[in-house]
Amino acid sequence: MEMFNSSVSYDQRMWSADIRGSQAYVKALEKAGLVSSTEMEKIVTGLDQIHEEWSTGTFVLTKADEDIHTANERRLKELIGEPAGKLHTGRSRNDQVVTDMRLWLRDSCSALYLHLTRLIRTMVDRAAIEVDILFPGYTHMQRAQPIRWSHWILSHAVALCRDAERLGELRKRINVLPLGSGAIAGNPLGVDRELLRKELKFDSVSLNSMDATSERDFIAEFLFWASLCMTHLSKMSEDLIIYSTKEFSFVTLSDSYSTGSSLMPQKKNPDSLELIRSKAGRVFGRCSGFLMTLKGLPSTYNKDLQEDKEAMFDVYDTVCAVLQVASGVISTLQINKEGMEKALSPDMLATDIAYYLVRKGMPFRQAHGVSGKAVQLAETKDIALNKLSLEDLKSISPLFSNDVSKVWNYTNSVEQYTAAGGNSKELCGGTG
Ligand code: ARG
Repeated sequence: MEMFNSSVSYDQRMWSADIRGSQAYVKALEKAGLVSSTEMEKIVTGLDQIHEEWSTGTFVLTKADEDIHTANERRLKELIGEPAGKLHTGRSRNDQVVTDMRLWLRDSCSALYLHLTRLIRTMVDRAAIEVDILFPGYTHMQRAQPIRWSHWILSHAVALCRDAERLGELRKRINVLPLGSGAIAGNPLGVDRELLRKELKFDSVSLNSMDATSERDFIAEFLFWASLCMTHLSKMSEDLIIYSTKEFSFVTLSDSYSTGSSLMPQKKNPDSLELIRSKAGRVFGRCSGFLMTLKGLPSTYNKDLQEDKEAMFDVYDTVCAVLQVASGVISTLQINKEGMEKALSPDMLATDIAYYLVRKGMPFRQAHGVSGKAVQLAETKDIALNKLSLEDLKSISPLFSNDVSKVWNYTNSVEQYTAAGGNSKELCGGTG
């Protein structure tokens, strides 16, 4: 049961947050007259020493240490004796653990933000440099319209920008101080929670002690944030895996981010991208698993909540690694410009034919039909759409004239999308 109950093997990761929380708490105790200034000094110095032990790897856990909170307090007692017993006055592990987690996750979000924005920067840089490369865009995985390669990159980058924005918003909700809530009812000893808030740099103080000690919305929200971010990265990976096949040959992964086959010497497997794609499943599992843990819990702290930590750590580690590998993949990716442009075909300009007719005054529905007929005629004649003669086209609609030749140009095609959000050079990284 002791082993089953213990969380120290993983929650020791919060050792620094736990010490910071205690050092702030003892200051509030001193202000409330519950410890003398000498006792406070001793406790703060003792905690400093414990900090030193953890950071130099010399802290020794004992079998009886159930979690990081009991471990640190046990060690404090060994170091300074009796005053250590005053540190937990009015505090519960219920408000302590959630304070630690909020501190830990707050700092970790900053690290994730950095990795995420680095990845976005890498993508934006590529988009600016490779803005002139065109390739086929797909809907339903069917050839749709010519697009700029940079438009593809930025389509993924903007999704990641929303993730960065969401992470910033999430951080605000994480940054609420629960300490001073006790086990359930609050603090009866005049602890100044505003002092605690300032000491620990929280934005605000929790409103209800029953809620503060047991709500894990911020963890669930973090896990969902990570799930959504992983969805975006998985989608991008899937595109690149397809683009890297011999059949597509649009991109080649750097050797550092792919592996060979132990049996087939010709192979280059996109392991990095496949792992990113698969880690999405792992993160979703953590998210839905933790929601299952929360569902059906009665009010306030229940030991079920101890399950929050492994989910939080694992998802953090996973997303952290994924973001760094994704940056590496994108920054070292080789683009096959010729292959991409060779893959474009005149049938992808059928929409442009319709737009051509629209510009000549034809209603779009009708223009769509006329363009469809042109596609059909080319198919019947077994020639490419752009090889139809002007007579052929005129036989379908009298609105066709010599200037139709301008339609058969992929750059002209992408450049017509000048409305905000479109495919034209200026909007896809062309301005750097
Ligand atoms: N290790 C515990 C956790 O992670 C700390 C809180 C324990 N609280 C309690 N009432 N037993 O949730």
